[in-house]
Amino acid sequence: MALEKQRFDTLIMGAGGAGLNAALQLANANLKVAVVSKVFPTRSHTVAAQGGVNAALANVLPDNWHWHMFDTVKGSDYLGDQDAIEYMCREAIPTVYELEHNGVPFSRLTNGKIYQRAFGGQSQNFGGEQAARTCAAADRTGHAILHTLYQQNIRAKTHFYDEYFAVDLIRDDEGYVLGALVLNIATGEPLLIESKTALLATGGCGQVFRTTSNAHINTGDGMAMALRAGLPLMDMEFFQFHPTGIAGKGMLITEGVRGEGGYLINKDGDRFMEKYAPNAKDLASRDVVARSIVTEVREGNGVGPEADHVLLKVNHLGEEVIAKRLPGIRESSKIFAGVDPVKDPIPVFPTAHYVMGGIPTDRFGRVMPTADDDGDHLPGLYAAGECACASVHGANRLGGNSLLDILVFGRLAGHNIIEYVKDNTAHRPLDEASVEKAVSRLQRWDAKGDGITVSQLRNEFRKTMEDHAGVFRVEDMMADGVEKVKRLREKLSEVRLTDHSSTFNTNRTEALELENLIDVGLSIAVSALHRKESRGAHSRPDYPKRDDVDWMKHTLYWKENDRLDYKGVRAQPLTVESFPPKERVY
Ligand code: FUM
Repeated sequence: MALEKQRFDTLIMGAGGAGLNAALQLANANLKVAVVSKVFPTRSHTVAAQGGVNAALANVLPDNWHWHMFDTVKGSDYLGDQDAIEYMCREAIPTVYELEHNGVPFSRLTNGKIYQRAFGGQSQNFGGEQAARTCAAADRTGHAILHTLYQQNIRAKTHFYDEYFAVDLIRDDEGYVLGALVLNIATGEPLLIESKTALLATGGCGQVFRTTSNAHINTGDGMAMALRAGLPLMDMEFFQFHPTGIAGKGMLITEGVRGEGGYLINKDGDRFMEKYAPNAKDLASRDVVARSIVTEVREGNGVGPEADHVLLKVNHLGEEVIAKRLPGIRESSKIFAGVDPVKDPIPVFPTAHYVMGGIPTDRFGRVMPTADDDGDHLPGLYAAGECACASVHGANRLGGNSLLDILVFGRLAGHNIIEYVKDNTAHRPLDEASVEKAVSRLQRWDAKGDGITVSQLRNEFRKTMEDHAGVFRVEDMMADGVEKVKRLREKLSEVRLTDHSSTFNTNRTEALELENLIDVGLSIAVSALHRKESRGAHSRPDYPKRDDVDWMKHTLYWKENDRLDYKGVRAQPLTVESFPPKERVY
């Protein structure tokens, strides 16, 4: 088969905040950079981020990057790597100012400074009063950031492949990354992009669960590409359920609602978070609030005909504040819950939101393929953003640290790629066997005949994940889930497309996404089954305590034989003293 080929210095897969911030550094350095995105770039999931980006600017209340670091280490339930966390929290401040100078239209205080709101798990003075650290553009912060980064990339002449689906990485026998096979969704034609380096910035995988705040595009494509290339995923058992998804639907209602003064109530109108987190209450960290909501419902305090959700009260903030600070959630509540929050509380329940784990990287974005912390990184391959695990979120991410992660580590990966390309000026010879393998995986979907449909298998899989790997997890339930997902993985060979046309064949891209979802789902289920403790978002009633003696370590999962290994937590920060593990209370 004659395959069209294009050559670039760097190939970036994914056009969210991480991909675009990396691309901007590269294009500004006059490198030839291609960004491949399966959707038009400004439809990437960063656009959906609502509440804001954390940086200790101290525009509203006293703050300090060191307190931000402490909150992030504590929020991670001490599983985050403290060198990377220190770097992220220090870099947050120049990163936000850089965004401002690039044109991000942040909301403003009356003195003209960037508006900052309170978010969960934020404190002053290593555990003191609530801080206000989240820089916001109303409740559409991701939208503001993504559009600005896209415009800056257009100015810098980044080359975009819009609506191209990244199929597989191409590597040679020595492990070097040579580019990727991608699929032009409009024509159905494959394209081989050769590059000296590649950055995976494909975002999250929330679609593994049936109820999720994530867009349909969040199917773990980069993570699954890494797995198929023989690389591990790290800490996949730590999956965040955002406390306030619209009940029964899953769309996000930002934590910024609680930051602005909204609060949760049960069927009796009680502010139940006072019981679970007496100090921070509704602004405890997300894992704590999500578990509290599920517990309230399980104890019979839920609201609605099925008593299956709680309420988020907002109307006391007044129409003016809601219009100025939270216009997007008013619109979403009206459309998806049939409720105007100016008048009535919003029905909410936890929704699958964010994976703390991902492709293991060091803090420079270089992919680390082994359990040996001092081991070599993979030549030419980088990962950043939600698909990566630089280990800044550990077992639980704080709200507002996701936009921060993608921006800081996207930019840093860009800078490191520039250095790599200085030392590796030539393209390496193409590895034909690797190309063949990727092409035949794509061609497998040309098989005709009877079989099960993509949507049948996808629905069964996502329900299984919801039933067996949700907010609370016990041994038998998870073991059963692992077996079921393995059986569904086998069933993939029985799936047939119902549409074999070439032009915009969404049935084909959904099939490729389903393969990715199942591989990533299994990494979550297997990693979760084996971690026998409760830490952060991984909550096991059968092992209710955190176990720092046996489990202060990162999980690594490989697709081959569903193998696991473990590696140590980097507890030593770069310039300050380490925060030793303590009981985590809010
Ligand atoms: O609640 C939110 O606005 C979500 C923010 C985040 O996930 O960081």
